Parts: sequence; C-alpha cells; structure tokens
Amino acid sequence: MSATSIDFNDQVIVVTGGSSGIGLASAQAFINAGAKRIYITGRSKTKLEQAREILGNKVIPITADVARISDLQALHDKIAANGDQIDVLFANAGIANHNQFGNTTEVEFSTTFDTNVKGLFFTVQSLLPLMKPASAIVLNASIAASKGMPNLSLYNASKAAVRSFARSWANDLKDRQIRVNTISPGVTRTPIMENGLGMKEEDIANFSAYLADAAPAGRMGRPEEIAAAVLFLASKTASYVNGVELCADGGLSQV
Ligand SMILES: NC(=O)c1ccc[n+]([C@@H]2O[C@H](COP(=O)([O-])OP(=O)(O)OC[C@H]3O[C@@H](n4cnc5c(N)ncnc54)[C@H](OP(=O)(O)O)[C@@H]3O)[C@@H](O)[C@H]2O)c1
Repeated sequence: MSATSIDFNDQVIVVTGGSSGIGLASAQAFINAGAKRIYITGRSKTKLEQAREILGNKVIPITADVARISDLQALHDKIAANGDQIDVLFANAGIANHNQFGNTTEVEFSTTFDTNVKGLFFTVQSLLPLMKPASAIVLNASIAASKGMPNLSLYNASKAAVRSFARSWANDLKDRQIRVNTISPGVTRTPIMENGLGMKEEDIANFSAYLADAAPAGRMGRPEEIAAAVLFLASKTASYVNGVELCADGGLSQV
C-alpha cells in the first residue's frame, strides 16, 4: 500500500448504527474501498435488512441496542464466533432529541446519555478484546460538542463526552497502538432530522437557508462526505493521527 492510499482490503469493519444516514454511507464506502466483511448494527431489524439489500453480501446485520450491555456482549460473541478480529470500529450509533432546560425530565436525560455516552463507552469496551493491534477506532461526536446550541443541552454534552473519550482512549490504548479519533459532522442531511429532532420539511428548508449564510460551504453536508472523512481517520494513511477531532462541517464551526 502506498503512503497515501486509502483501502481496506481484507479488513473487518464494525459500524454501529450502520442501517441509516452516516453509518450506512460509511458502510458503503468501506465496501467500495475493499473491506472483507462489515458488521452493521441498529435496533430495527427491518432497517438493517433494508441496508443489507443496499450493501450486499459482505454485510452482516446484527440487531443490537447500544444502550443494552447484554446486546453488546452478544455482538462481541457473534463476531468472535465467526473467527473475526476487528480492523476498524466506527462507533457511530447515536440519537438527537431536543430538551428544554428548566423542564427536562430524568427520562430525557437517561435516554440521551444511555445511548450516546454509556452506549458508546460500552460499545468500545465490549469489542476491545477483538480489536487487532494497531487497529483504528473512530467515534462519532458532533460539532455540537463544542457549541451551546439551544434546546439541545443534553445532546451537546453527550457529544462533548464522546470527544473526550477519544483523548483518553488514545492514551489508554497506547500499548496496543490502537488509534482513537473523533469525527465531528456538521449539519448533515440524514433521517435523524425527522426522527429525533422532529423537523418538518419547512424546518429543514429554513435550516438550509441559514447554512447558506452561516457556513463557508453554504449548504448541509451529505452522508457520503462525512463517510469520506471517517475512512481517512480509519485508514493507514492516518497512521500518525491520534486523539484528534476532525470537523467535517463545511467550515461551520471554524468561522
Ligand atoms: N446528521 C447530522 O447532522 C449529524 C451531525 C453530527 C453528528 N451526527 C451523529 O451521527 C451519528 C449518526 O446519525 P445520523 O445523522 O446518520 O442519523 P440516523 O440516520 O438517524 O442514523 C442513526 C443510526 O443509529 C442507530 N441507532 C440509534 N440508536 C441506537 C441504539 N440505541 N442502538 C443501536 N443503534 C442505534 C439507528 O438505527 P435504529 O434506529 O434502528 O436503532 C441508525 O442506524 C449520530 O451519533 C449523530 O449524533 C449527526
């Protein structure tokens, strides 16, 4: 492999939340770049089956809720039973919900933190025994990790925790030379807008109009554009990149 090539020939990849949006686009990009096998996870079996129809037979869909430790253990066991070791783990599964500070419930708090923080923490910890030496972990945070976006304080803080994990784990995994980096997408057009944030077509159009002004790129991102940055972080081309946050946001958080 040349110093600048990005390929995943013969590699085993795990993408949590691989049935939709950024995870689905990343799974497709890993396949296009030669991956041998891709495990994708999510809660909905139907969405996972639909993703497999799109992605083809290199994909192994596994129904697993990251907020349940027993599901994560089962995921570990299925990968191990196939005799696979992991070259790349993309811990991507996450949710976005609004919360109004002053009226936020304990359930709202737990829902966001159980998935985005506890779920991501135990995803990585559960699969750690299967990670190869010098393998790569990419965590999906968000530019929200460094912003105070209104009515999203739980989401913003959950993503700040994710960004922090990458710093700590890059250090914790030094002996195994496993790199841990963070991708922080900006506003990216995926189903999370309708599903989690409850946005209607008009809200999305308003958001687009705002970005035309506020972001140097002048538009929302496409899942494929985030996937390209994920593949860079996961690749041997990034062999000296560790503990960073790569913002793929059309410049929104940088100006
Ligand atoms: N889109 C954006 O603008 C944006 C910006 C910054 C960061 N992000 C981050 O990018 C990641 C992916 O989001 P997306 O925009 O691609 O959204 P999406 O299209 O809604 O995809 C989310 C994926 O995560 C899965 N998922 C959700 N909760 C899960 C759980 N408890 N256990 C396992 N899987 C779960 C979903 O499948 P099921 O519903 O079937 O479980 C789905 O496959 C998230 O972490 C999000 O915070 C997105």
